[in-house]
Amino acid sequence: MKNYSELEIEKIQDRFAIFAEQECKSSSAFYYDLSLKISKDEELSRMASYACYGQPIPNIFFGAVHYLVLKDKNCQLASYYPSITKSLKNPALPFDVFKDFCIHNESQIVELISSKIVQTNVINRCSYLTPILSELINKGQKNACVIDIGASVGLNLNFDLYEYWTDGQKIFGDSSVKIEFETKDSAIKPILPTNYFVRKIGIDQHLINPQNEDEKLWLNALIWPDHLERFNSMEKALELRQNGGIEMLQASTVPQFEEIINEQLNNETLIIYSTHTLYQFSQENRQDFFNMLDSIGRKRDFYFLSVESTKYLQEKYDSSQTVIELTSYTNRQKNEQFIAETNGHGNWILWKNEF
Ligand SMILES: C[S@@+](CC[C@H](N)C(=O)[O-])C[C@H]1O[C@@H](n2cnc3c(N)ncnc32)[C@H](O)[C@@H]1O
Repeated sequence: MKNYSELEIEKIQDRFAIFAEQECKSSSAFYYDLSLKISKDEELSRMASYACYGQPIPNIFFGAVHYLVLKDKNCQLASYYPSITKSLKNPALPFDVFKDFCIHNESQIVELISSKIVQTNVINRCSYLTPILSELINKGQKNACVIDIGASVGLNLNFDLYEYWTDGQKIFGDSSVKIEFETKDSAIKPILPTNYFVRKIGIDQHLINPQNEDEKLWLNALIWPDHLERFNSMEKALELRQNGGIEMLQASTVPQFEEIINEQLNNETLIIYSTHTLYQFSQENRQDFFNMLDSIGRKRDFYFLSVESTKYLQEKYDSSQTVIELTSYTNRQKNEQFIAETNGHGNWILWKNEF
């Protein structure tokens, strides 16, 4: 499979520097520090360049190292990883210790990053999905079908089974899985209970079997080591998932997505969403995907909710954050709305427009 090894090493280093500043700075001190150091280290940047083309390089590289640490909890590096020590008060990780571990395990890291994909399932993204989905379902006043494209293990489709807290206030649910977020500079959007039946379909290019220990380990390895609460949420959400209710389908091409969408009933409210997935599509595939949605929109009503931190969405709405865009196809009319900004892990929401 094609990888990034053809890319100039400075470009790989830039990816780590950007990852540090744009994604880790306000979210993960652990990865912020490491990313900045890797951005100045030729040897580790070269190692990271074996990631499959299309995959986010820092995420997969860190995921691979974390995976090896979770597998060997007694290694020296493990004593610095908050996910192992369950504490954020570890001594600072000396870069030499990290680098030595990577060099010592180079062949395994290269094997992992050249064969695996970033399939993180960030449950906290339900912070914005749930108020939006519940409002759209209630507006439709009928049963609904919700399709998650790039669903990973599908946990965000169980949005209605979690408990929601914003700004210290519980606003919905009663569950072992808690979603906490800040509502920035805007009124708190309520989560409305729905009395309609919701069919849940998750689509992904690779279906994860969380009963398989190795697949579960990879899912956990993709969680950032100092996001301690996410390990617990993942465990609890996987337990809830065992009760069923989600249909997972394997598909990866636009014609396959189209076929699945066309199979859905016309008498349900259809909501398709995609969070942090379209950035993994090539530009050409993304355009084909949008064209496919437009063509379905000429035949039936539905919504498409897109959440990405990609340049094309940020430029479209003059934002430097993760953009939440809702496209409504109603009576053959297409309407695109910038409804909110958030961060990569759904820790805060700034609502922009009513929908
Ligand atoms: C970064 S993860 C995000 C997962 C989930 N949407 C979330 O927000 O937690 C991206 C997901 O998109 C999937 N994906 C990427 N390209 C895909 C494609 N062409 N077809 C199906 N799934 C794809 C990946 O396998 C992965 O599970």
